[in-house]
Amino acid sequence: MRSFLGRDILSLKDFEREEFFHVFEVADHLAPHARDRRNGDLLREKTLVTAFYQPSTRTRLATEGAMHRLGGHVCGFSDAKMTRAGDFYQESIKDTVHMLEFYGDVIAMRHFQQGAPAEAARWASVPVINCGDGWGEHPTQVLTDLYTIWHEKGTLDGLAVLCVGDMRMRTMHSILYAMSQFDMEALIVCPPEMSLLPEFKSELDARSVSYREVESVDKCIAEADVIYMEPVVQADYTKGRDERGGEVATTPEAYRVTRQLLRDKAKSDSIVLHSLPRMDELPVDVDDTHHARYWIEAYNGVVMRMALLALVLGGVE
Ligand code: CP
Repeated sequence: MRSFLGRDILSLKDFEREEFFHVFEVADHLAPHARDRRNGDLLREKTLVTAFYQPSTRTRLATEGAMHRLGGHVCGFSDAKMTRAGDFYQESIKDTVHMLEFYGDVIAMRHFQQGAPAEAARWASVPVINCGDGWGEHPTQVLTDLYTIWHEKGTLDGLAVLCVGDMRMRTMHSILYAMSQFDMEALIVCPPEMSLLPEFKSELDARSVSYREVESVDKCIAEADVIYMEPVVQADYTKGRDERGGEVATTPEAYRVTRQLLRDKAKSDSIVLHSLPRMDELPVDVDDTHHARYWIEAYNGVVMRMALLALVLGGVE
């Protein structure tokens, strides 16, 4: 297995099966810091720099929280408008990263341009973690999601995963790449204008990812062990900021997971994941069902980021 020390975490395309399980084991090892709310000192000599060019609640704060849990230090920005990249100068990724690498030992970046973290990694002498890049990928979220599934179901193999939402989304890309390493089948449900792009389908075929496109949640929820959700009413991820207009669309029934649908058609042991934030595709009354796992998924977000930071910074092997 390749070492994680100094490694960029940019994509799940190149993640190998044993690497997923190694990250999960490290996450289990570090989890007590989060579970017991007890900060340690594993990364006391290290500093995380967060460079968020797009809004975030979970990813930035879970990553920063993870660094604090391990006794490390944090600096960074959560609004590029307050930096020289977001003013008159529009400072380039290259020039910005040549500064950030002096301020810390790892850079966690979210950007509205697909490939921006990879561009940063070309110039940075410290590891870069992709915290979501445009319509590209969201590897730390999906590592969190797979870790959650592994814990909840005891395995990743032999599972049918219903993926419902906008298939252009970065989480959908990362999870479908990851599925190439496991015996999983994806059931894909999305509006036609948000379907898997032909070039992405070719990549999935080349990686022998097993997937079936289905018209509606209703038609395949009975087969699903995991229901993996994203909105279809959502922001444009190529924008730095996308504020809501006056009119907000509603989600068509075909792409919603309701309490009634879960009761009437879902497997009794199926679990619902959603990286959040949600719109009306996942009504709040699902929160009280035994299917809901998105709050434990959010908690696991801290645990997973502790594991990734510890690995790339050499706190653990
Ligand atoms: N799931 C996720 O990426 O959430 P944030 O946009 O709040 O980071």
